[in-house]
Amino acid sequence: MPIIRAADLAYVRVRVPDLDRAETFMQDFGLVRADRTGQALYMRGAGPDHHVHITEEGPAKFLALGFAVDNAEDLDCLSRLPGASKVERIEEPGGGLRVRLTDPDGHTVEVVHGIARVEPIQHVRHPLNDATEGLRRAGTLARHERGCANVLRLGHAVLVTPELPRMRAWYRETLGLLMSDEIVGPGGEVGLSFNRLDRGAEFVDHHVLLLQAGPKAGLNHVAFEVHDVDDLMLGHEHLQGLGYESVWGIGRHVYGGQIFDYWMDPWEFMYEHWTDSDRLNAEFRGVTEGTVESINGPWGQQVTHRFLTHAHE
Ligand SMILES: [Fe+2]
Repeated sequence: MPIIRAADLAYVRVRVPDLDRAETFMQDFGLVRADRTGQALYMRGAGPDHHVHITEEGPAKFLALGFAVDNAEDLDCLSRLPGASKVERIEEPGGGLRVRLTDPDGHTVEVVHGIARVEPIQHVRHPLNDATEGLRRAGTLARHERGCANVLRLGHAVLVTPELPRMRAWYRETLGLLMSDEIVGPGGEVGLSFNRLDRGAEFVDHHVLLLQAGPKAGLNHVAFEVHDVDDLMLGHEHLQGLGYESVWGIGRHVYGGQIFDYWMDPWEFMYEHWTDSDRLNAEFRGVTEGTVESINGPWGQQVTHRFLTHAHE
C-alpha cells in the first residue's frame, strides 16, 4: 500500500536569472500570467488551477515538482515521513498547504492541497472531423487564426536518474503512482519507466512521471496539454517564427501515444506541447517490453541526441 495516492501533478518550480524574459517565453509557449511578485512568476493554463508553473529569480536551476492531493489528511500522513517538513502554509499567490519531501536523487517534491481555483479561460475551437465523425462542425466555417498554442494544463514531468529502481520505488510507495509502460535492457535494467496517477476507475494520462535512466540526475522536460493538433501546429509555427530552439518534433509517440512537440527556453529548460494521449485507469496492467531499437514513433521527426541526453540540474 502506498502512503498516499497523489491526485495530480500540480506545478513545476524552476529558477532562472531573468523573469521578464521567462514571462515572454511562457506567453509565447501559450501560458498565461496568474501572478507575479518581486521574487517569482506564476503561470497558469486555461484550466481551473491557479498556476501550473513557478519561476523564481536567480541562477538557472530545477527546484521542485509539485503534486496535489485531494485531502489535507494526506499531508499529515506525509509529514510523518523521515526527512519531511511539517505541514506548512504556502506563503505564495494561491495559498494552500504544503509538505516538502526529498526524493532519492535529492529533488524537492512539494505535495500541496487547497491552492485556490480560478475561472477557466474559454478559447474558440473548431471541432475536428474525421471519417467516422464527419459532422462535428456541420454547418459552420472553420477560420483558424495564427498565434501561440493555448496550454490547457500541466500533464507530466520527466526526470533523468542514475538511480532508477530507487526513484521508481520511492514515487510508487510515497505517491501511489502506477506503472504503465517500461522498457528493460538486455541485462534486465530498466531504461524508461512510465508512471501514471492512481485515481481508481477514473481515466488519467498514460504518464504523469517518466523516469529515464541516465548518468546525471536532472529534469529532462515538462509537458503541457494543448487543445488539439491544430493548436499544437499553430504553437510550433509561432515558436519557430520567434526563433526559439526546437528540440524534437512534431511527431507521434509510441509510449503514451500522444502527438508531441518539444522546445527549449532561453536557459535550456525543455517544454513539450502534446495532444491526444492514451488514457488508462487503475485496472490497466502495465506493460514491460524488452530493449527497443529506438523510441521513434510511426511518423514525425526522428528522436534527437539533444532530447535523449538532456538533464537540467
Ligand atoms: Fe513528454
